[in-house]
Amino acid sequence: MFTLLFGCLAIVTSVWAAQPSAPDPIPAPLRDLPWGELNFLHTTDTHGWLGGHLQEPSFSADWGDYISFTEHLDRKANGDNVDLLLIDTGDRVEGNGLYDSSEPKGRYLFDIYKQQRIDLICSGNHELYKRNSSENEFNKTVPHYKDGYISSNIDIYSPETGELVPLAPRFRKLRTRNKGYNILAFGFLFDFTGNANNTAVNTVEDTIGQKWFQDAIRDDDLDLIVIIGHIPVRSKEYTLLFRAIRSVKWDIPIQFFGGHMHIRDFKVYDRVSTAIASGRFMETIGWLSISGLPDPEKPKVKINEKQRSITASPSFSRRYIDNNLFSLMHHARMSASDFPTKKGQAVSKQIEHARHALNLDKVVGCAPQDYYLSKRPYPSRESIITWLEELVLPTELQKSKRSTIGIPAFAILNTGAIRFDLFKGVYTRDTTFLVSPFTSGFKYIPDIEAETARKVLQLLNSQGPILEQMAKEHGDLTWLAPPEQVGWLAQEVEVGPKLAAARSDQVVFGDDGHKHDDLVPGYTTNDDHGDDGDDTIHQAVKFYQMPNCIMAEVGPKDPKTVDLAYIDFVEPWVLLALRFLGVKVPPETPQVYMDDKILGTHIEDFIRGNIDWKPKDGRC
Ligand SMILES: *[C@@H]1O[C@H](CO)[C@@H](O)[C@H](O)[C@H]1NC(C)=O
Ligand SMILES: *[C@@H]1O[C@H](CO)[C@@H](O)[C@H](O)[C@H]1NC(C)=O
Ligand SMILES: *[C@@H]1O[C@H](CO)[C@@H](O)[C@H](O)[C@H]1NC(C)=O
Repeated sequence: MFTLLFGCLAIVTSVWAAQPSAPDPIPAPLRDLPWGELNFLHTTDTHGWLGGHLQEPSFSADWGDYISFTEHLDRKANGDNVDLLLIDTGDRVEGNGLYDSSEPKGRYLFDIYKQQRIDLICSGNHELYKRNSSENEFNKTVPHYKDGYISSNIDIYSPETGELVPLAPRFRKLRTRNKGYNILAFGFLFDFTGNANNTAVNTVEDTIGQKWFQDAIRDDDLDLIVIIGHIPVRSKEYTLLFRAIRSVKWDIPIQFFGGHMHIRDFKVYDRVSTAIASGRFMETIGWLSISGLPDPEKPKVKINEKQRSITASPSFSRRYIDNNLFSLMHHARMSASDFPTKKGQAVSKQIEHARHALNLDKVVGCAPQDYYLSKRPYPSRESIITWLEELVLPTELQKSKRSTIGIPAFAILNTGAIRFDLFKGVYTRDTTFLVSPFTSGFKYIPDIEAETARKVLQLLNSQGPILEQMAKEHGDLTWLAPPEQVGWLAQEVEVGPKLAAARSDQVVFGDDGHKHDDLVPGYTTNDDHGDDGDDTIHQAVKFYQMPNCIMAEVGPKDPKTVDLAYIDFVEPWVLLALRFLGVKVPPETPQVYMDDKILGTHIEDFIRGNIDWKPKDGRC
């Protein structure tokens, strides 16, 4: 049956849906969506990937396909007299050429994004790093989504009046269309401090103490509180919010939607409260459904905690949808020819035009093999981190003025500076933005003993009292590693192993109880409801723990003293480590190591200069 369906699909995808160069999805056994009386679709941390993944069949559907999908699901919801709400929890910008490569950034992205209806939307930290990105929210996204955009703890200096005002309304009260549930919604950002100075992020703790919040949660005409946030589902911020509401309303159902960690996760807070996190980069569309909420038409009877046995007990279900046409068509119960809607197709076209205008498909080089961020151990031949440490950085940093006059360098890079895997085959203009969208370059401190430099690296990668001190002053060092890893570690503490270091099983059992050894490798999520959350039954992929930082050696071997170079993002930690080692660095000492070259440019230069990566006639 799968093969048949796939047959038609292959013909159609390249004509009507997804991006023209997107690979066809691979058929796989699926778990259905558990529909309830109140249903949600959730995206988070899309980071500009509205064109989908053009080298990965599992995630190859685009934003236009998501629009078609929701149109079909809306129709079903209305037909069944249930509700469907759409949610996005931020970090829509930075991380894909569709956003980063235009001038100004996001020239095409905002118009594409807003074609989708979103009922509740909030800001992530990436919307706030640059003054003009938060102004884009204030000038474009907030007015478009109106009271659907919620900003419970972010203020902005209005570019017009200079006054500090809420970025968007603090909360929203809404009534669902079909069932008539009364929902109170908040939109939070975690306690972020790296924002540009034109915005102010109030801590969650402070916000909870504000009168408007305390008043809002005392509303007696509520069936559900929804908290959307760019906040990990296992976090002190959500725990604080949960407790603050529980202390006032002992029995109100609460549903959290979270993000920031880039992982799939589901946490049960109590009998009537859960939280879902829906991955990253348009790989995942999260599905959450609730059934058994008290009938909103019936007058609310106030009962106390002792009488709780008579209250209705709602049930919560989750599903993590792989964003490809095979999955989307299956859940929409649509054939390939009926799936793309007019609007969805128009948006796919809009993305195609933008990608074309930005020349994103221009081939820079041909990757001779796959390089992975955390799907292979470090060090290894297929680790992108090893490749940077042993080849890219030594080759490229050797071109610096310091190196050409014979001064060796050790260069420190945090592994979180790499965002994504690099796949065998075409390396396009787009790829650099996927692999490393950050705008950090290298700086250096001269005359550091090689041995001291090695100790700095050890400190950045180790644990202990020194590390705790560093964490107090500058934030937890694990933040130097990719966010997924931080998320998995938190999940692991509460649920069970995710990282390969603690994982040995590779055999997968399907819904049918049978062993599958012909499955496509992919996400197999272990959360508070078990390991059956993913819509696609995958062969579990192993993930390996990366060090926080690596160090590339540039120039002559076995030097006595070196330029200690480092990506400027890690500067505070490097200076602190040196201080612990008894090396004083006057504030004016660190200098720029190589013009303003950012990591992505170093990678591109390496590829252009390397014979193994040469395209033939502009193709691979
Ligand atoms: C912000 O301004 C800089 C400098 O003018 C520009 O390069 C960048 O594209 C702008 N970013 C956004 C999000 O508008
Ligand atoms: C936002 O709009 C104001 C005027 O209303 C303008 O001064 C400001 O430059 C705009 N910001 C961006 C990033 O376009
Ligand atoms: C923000 O920083 C800029 C310099 O980067 C400064 O000119 C401006 O006055 C600061 N604004 C506020 C509100 O502190």
